[in-house]
Amino acid sequence: MKLSVCFIALCLLPIATAFSLFKICPILDCEESCRDGRVEVDGCETCTCVDICEEAGCGKGSDDYTCQVISTNGYRRTKNGEVMSVYRAKCNKVCPPDPVCDKKCYFGSELKDECPTCDCKDICKEKNVECPENFRCEVNGSHIVGIGYPITWETGCVQDVCKAGEPEVDNNGFRVRCNGHEENTCSEGFTCVLHSNGDGSCCPGDQN
Ligand SMILES: *[C@@H]1O[C@H](CO)[C@@H](O)[C@H](O)[C@H]1NC(C)=O
Repeated sequence: MKLSVCFIALCLLPIATAFSLFKICPILDCEESCRDGRVEVDGCETCTCVDICEEAGCGKGSDDYTCQVISTNGYRRTKNGEVMSVYRAKCNKVCPPDPVCDKKCYFGSELKDECPTCDCKDICKEKNVECPENFRCEVNGSHIVGIGYPITWETGCVQDVCKAGEPEVDNNGFRVRCNGHEENTCSEGFTCVLHSNGDGSCCPGDQN
């Protein structure tokens, strides 16, 4: 008895598999097209659209997060051969209004519970940049991998020429360069001090 049940099960399994592989799905007549694909039931598409934000479950239904749909460079092919862009869901923490801070953070703020604080990010420290003696680390450029990704900051070591204070930075936090010859690029109250390689920094005061 036991043996025959086992035999039937083994026999039915390949038949069931074969049926699902060659299953013929009903032709759908859906009103809307689905940006992120259709929900499938038993291997057949339905008219219900996939909701990538629901799948991402940002904050599991609490108000702490919002879901943002972001385009990617990816493509997918639908069952009927259409090529569609691929989007992804990004969960964003809902933060209270940004704190009012004394100083501006050019390269981002430190986060606490995913929300910005008044402490500025120290990119050089984060990247563990070590500069030779009498050189300082500075952020000197940026690049972006893609929409929705954080900015990648580039750093370099520059001669530390200011006797006192920090070199002048522009509106984006990058060091103002000067060469001492052409029109003075330093703001009032700053003096151009040349580096040994021809670069120059605007140092506060007259530096003499
Ligand atoms: C930043 O500094 C690095 C290292 O000194 C250098 O290779 C790079 O060219 C600099 N980038 C810019 C934009 O000046």
